Amino acid sequence: MRDLRLRFWLALGLPLAALPHGASAKECREALVCGGVSSPESKGVCGPSGDHLRSYGRMEGLTATWSSHNPVLAGLKLDDKATRAYRETLSGGLDPSDYCCYSGCAPEVEALAPTPRCEAGEVGVFVCGSTAPPGEKGVCTESASSLRFVGLERVVTYGPDYPGSLHLDEPMTAAFRAAIAPRSEPERLCCYSACQAGPPVVVDPKEVPFEPQPNRGRPFRVADDARTAPEVGSDAWTADLDVAPVDLVLRPMLAEAWIAEARMEHASVAAFARLGLQLVALGAPWELVDAAHFAARDEIRHARVAFSLATQIGGEAVGPGPFPEAAGEVDLDLERFVRHTLIDGCIGEAVASEEAARAASAAVDPGLAEILWGIASDEASHAELGWRVLGWMRERHPEIVGRVVREVYGRVLSEPSVQADAECCARSTRAHGLLCTHERAAARSAVLDQVVLPILAAAAANPA
Ligand SMILES: [Fe+2]
Ligand SMILES: [Fe+2]
Repeated sequence: MRDLRLRFWLALGLPLAALPHGASAKECREALVCGGVSSPESKGVCGPSGDHLRSYGRMEGLTATWSSHNPVLAGLKLDDKATRAYRETLSGGLDPSDYCCYSGCAPEVEALAPTPRCEAGEVGVFVCGSTAPPGEKGVCTESASSLRFVGLERVVTYGPDYPGSLHLDEPMTAAFRAAIAPRSEPERLCCYSACQAGPPVVVDPKEVPFEPQPNRGRPFRVADDARTAPEVGSDAWTADLDVAPVDLVLRPMLAEAWIAEARMEHASVAAFARLGLQLVALGAPWELVDAAHFAARDEIRHARVAFSLATQIGGEAVGPGPFPEAAGEVDLDLERFVRHTLIDGCIGEAVASEEAARAASAAVDPGLAEILWGIASDEASHAELGWRVLGWMRERHPEIVGRVVREVYGRVLSEPSVQADAECCARSTRAHGLLCTHERAAARSAVLDQVVLPILAAAAANPA
């Protein structure tokens, strides 16, 4: 979670030197990202900076989604040599002219663990990284007992918890090294893959403590109350998803849970649309307005995923009904704007990202896991936008932001700390990508402790 703290820290405009636990600009490292250009208009065009790069590493199932408004990407420049090398590694019907590589010095952040396609009932693991101890430099052993996995969004050390079931994947190692060629030590990079038997699925819905929870992510508020559209019988928002069928006994409960998720995602579409209007009305720079609209489109995709899952699992088409409140008056009360930015945009979206990441880790179906990893990445970008908006408001209205930061800091500090309790949550919801109430609370608690509180404390200690 350290990557989120660093990203949000930079987005708010806090000095790197004030970052606690010794993290500093030294964590900046040579980074290289490769991937497809994001929009049809920029198809085949590699811009000078990474602003239009939507993803990287789209090779053999290794995918991760990047926001075009990521400050990490903002510092990366087009790398002609790496682009040529990367395009040479592409195959399988991809159009090489769509793919570009960017390199530069970027803060070290975490990568979302990719997942290979496996047989039904198996969990896929597919990871690339560098050999961990310096003494093992250049040695890719048969099993991944000491690999430090480095990507651009996640750094994870896979230790004894990962049994020696991950095996050296030589073709992927060669492809990964070729893609990373401009970096200094490609010989240290190895890739490992495995398909493992998934956890057993509990089929007794009575054991599943799941309560749909409102107000996660960025809700659409009228005054302070979160509102959502009703669900109706409609396939207008659905799409075919490549996910495994669900056990018959669990279907009603899971469909209901996905409808609740879908309604919240749908409300977030309106919330970001309104944020775009608020930012225009307040005279915000175009980058923030653009990011708000980009986020609204992400939320459309999330809502479609959730409505589609509800439809596929429940067997009946379900979509959003009319939402006339979304066309209500645009609130420009500055203090309320700052408070909602912090509570919903900065914190709510960061929690939504952590929840999606935990759900992705637990999901048995690789297709669903891939979808959830993408949502986790999107929600992290939405939170980052929240911190950027807060940073912009902080420059213009330091007294208001300072007051709200102190108020929210006190509220967050008083929230009880919740530890994850494996026994408390039945596996069936986790296996299907839905965290139970207790797990959500634990995810929120971790984000507050490790990400939000240090940033708010630093913001209070370093007035704009
Ligand atoms: Fe979302
Ligand atoms: Fe979001």
